[in-house]
Amino acid sequence: MAVVFSGVQPSGTLTLGNYLGAIKHFVDYQEEEQSFFCIVNQHAITVPQDPKELRDNTRSLAALYLAVGLDPQKTTLFVQSEVAEHAQLAWVMQTIAYVGELERMTQYKEKAANKGESIPAGLLTYPPLMAADMLLYKATDVPVGEDQRQHIEFTRDLAQRFNHRYGELFPLPKMRAPKVGARIMSLQEPTKKMSKSDPNQNATIRLLDSEKDILKKLKRAQTDSDNTIRFDKENKPGVSNLLAIYSHCSGKSIEELEQEYDGKGYGNLKVDTAEAVIEILRPVQARYQELISTSELDRILDEGAVKAREVAAVTMREVEQAMGLKR
Ligand code: TYM
Repeated sequence: MAVVFSGVQPSGTLTLGNYLGAIKHFVDYQEEEQSFFCIVNQHAITVPQDPKELRDNTRSLAALYLAVGLDPQKTTLFVQSEVAEHAQLAWVMQTIAYVGELERMTQYKEKAANKGESIPAGLLTYPPLMAADMLLYKATDVPVGEDQRQHIEFTRDLAQRFNHRYGELFPLPKMRAPKVGARIMSLQEPTKKMSKSDPNQNATIRLLDSEKDILKKLKRAQTDSDNTIRFDKENKPGVSNLLAIYSHCSGKSIEELEQEYDGKGYGNLKVDTAEAVIEILRPVQARYQELISTSELDRILDEGAVKAREVAAVTMREVEQAMGLKR
């Protein structure tokens, strides 16, 4: 039986990268036997968060999950901190993870850089919490963007280590990245991924950006000076990123677009890409506005937490039994 799990941090307004790399695809996975889509607020607090903003971003993410088409009748939507077993299993995972391997994680190295003595311990132990998220539900499939690959591989290592020491309990979850869109790049530095936390507003398209802003940001996107439109990540990262975004939003293949834009300038490509992005985000934004101030949203999250807890509690009992934590 397939069990799907994925999570998104409520650490700011989601970007087009989060959408094309992950949440757009969640809708397909809710057709599997069991699926869980989580708002991972305990991951978000590994860097300081303003409490009011965190609360607002949590509701906002829930509304976006629903706006893209997740259906609480088919899937379980919930907030991580409302299911205590995530932190409990994360502790267990920390006891079987090694400090050396945690220190080698790319995301840790990036986020800990320049922090000197003041690196929050939670940044280091982020991957065991992430492993706990998936393993609590015995997830088999995890739809995520390319940047999560190392974390999923580490989860598989921890699951294997646990199974080896304490008996077979966890399946090894498989990463499911989309073929196109698994790594949308920054519009300003197209060799870096588009990131929620990028301070340069022009670098990211946010899912709730106005049509005017989307057009403005795409018009300002960094390209190059040779003015030919062709997909070549190595030598033309900016143009290739625009083609990937356009292809994803319009359903046309990269080859079709290369032919269509043969001999045309970057200006055309940018405006048409903006139109395709606006078109794909318009219904999502409209649904979001309908949902964001309803109490329906809270009811769905309350029910989701109850459903998630039922599964999580069973796994946690099995873990404690296997490890000798139960009398
Ligand atoms: P987060 O919140 O950074 O991102 C959410 C999802 O969006 C994908 N993504 C991208 N895809 C394509 N291009 C981009 N530029 C881009 N930026 C982000 C991410 O790959 C992710 O799928 N650690 C995770 C959250 C998490 C999780 C989990 C995921 C916690 N526990 C368990 C899966 C399973 C994170 O920080 O995602």
